Amino acid sequence: MKIAVLGATGRTGQVIVEQALAAGHHVAALVRRPEGLPVRGENLEVVVGDARDPAIIEKLAAENDAVICSLGIPASGTSRAEIDDSASVDVCLVSTRLLFDALPRHGKRRIVLMSTHGAGGSNDGSPYVTWLRDLVKNRVLDKDHTEEFIAASDAPVDWTVIRNPSIYEGELGRPHEVYTRIELDRSSRVTYQDLAAFALSEVVTPRHVGQFLTITEPLEDTSLLAAAEIAPEVAA
Ligand SMILES: NC(=O)c1ccc[n+]([C@@H]2O[C@H](COP(=O)([O-])OP(=O)(O)OC[C@H]3O[C@@H](n4cnc5c(N)ncnc54)[C@H](OP(=O)(O)O)[C@@H]3O)[C@@H](O)[C@H]2O)c1
Repeated sequence: MKIAVLGATGRTGQVIVEQALAAGHHVAALVRRPEGLPVRGENLEVVVGDARDPAIIEKLAAENDAVICSLGIPASGTSRAEIDDSASVDVCLVSTRLLFDALPRHGKRRIVLMSTHGAGGSNDGSPYVTWLRDLVKNRVLDKDHTEEFIAASDAPVDWTVIRNPSIYEGELGRPHEVYTRIELDRSSRVTYQDLAAFALSEVVTPRHVGQFLTITEPLEDTSLLAAAEIAPEVAA
């Protein structure tokens, strides 16, 4: 399969690229900084550009079977103290709009996008979400606007949105579950490895088309699970 990965220099993006290549897929990795992607492979094509550039998105849609968007802010390597919280962020919204337009024109449908738990419909006013949204400030607004666009879109696109809790460097195969509804607490987390594997499995074998998902390892406060809903499998 030919898979375009946006945000390929990111912490999750790099793992997605590695896992996809290891599984024998062809990967078109969109990067702004080629030096930020140490992964190598004969099935790896590095595409240099900005995810908000229509010509770049057109190329990725034309030449690939499916897309994984792991775009985020800040730029990799930037410390939290250096983040400009006043700068407006639109990379997810602009690139998603372009992809939802370009993919159907090229006869492609499948796209998996990363979001943040606490954005869009998961902004549930809980203590965790209130804390998180204050922490990531205006950067979560890009996810809000993107989720709003996706929910309202009638583009013939098979999308899945994965709303992430904290992501950490760990092993592949930690216990985790995927929900369409859950209240999280600060213990919620998932490894880059498990998140990448889930995103990859979704593009290869779509099981959660048209769903906003939250993926997390078991929570410390198990009472939160009482009102949670496990994501049902929905074929494309
Ligand atoms: N990390 C967490 O704990 C966490 C928690 C909740 C949600 N999330 C979300 O989960 C996803 C993956 O997170 P992550 O931590 O792996 O992301 P990350 O390390 O911050 O990577 C973000 C990626 O987006 C790229 N990017 C940003 N603007 C771009 C543009 N205009 N054109 C092209 N590329 C651009 C960056 O490229 P450069 O390397 O060139 O900057 C980088 O590759 C993101 O959507 C993030 O918002 C993360």
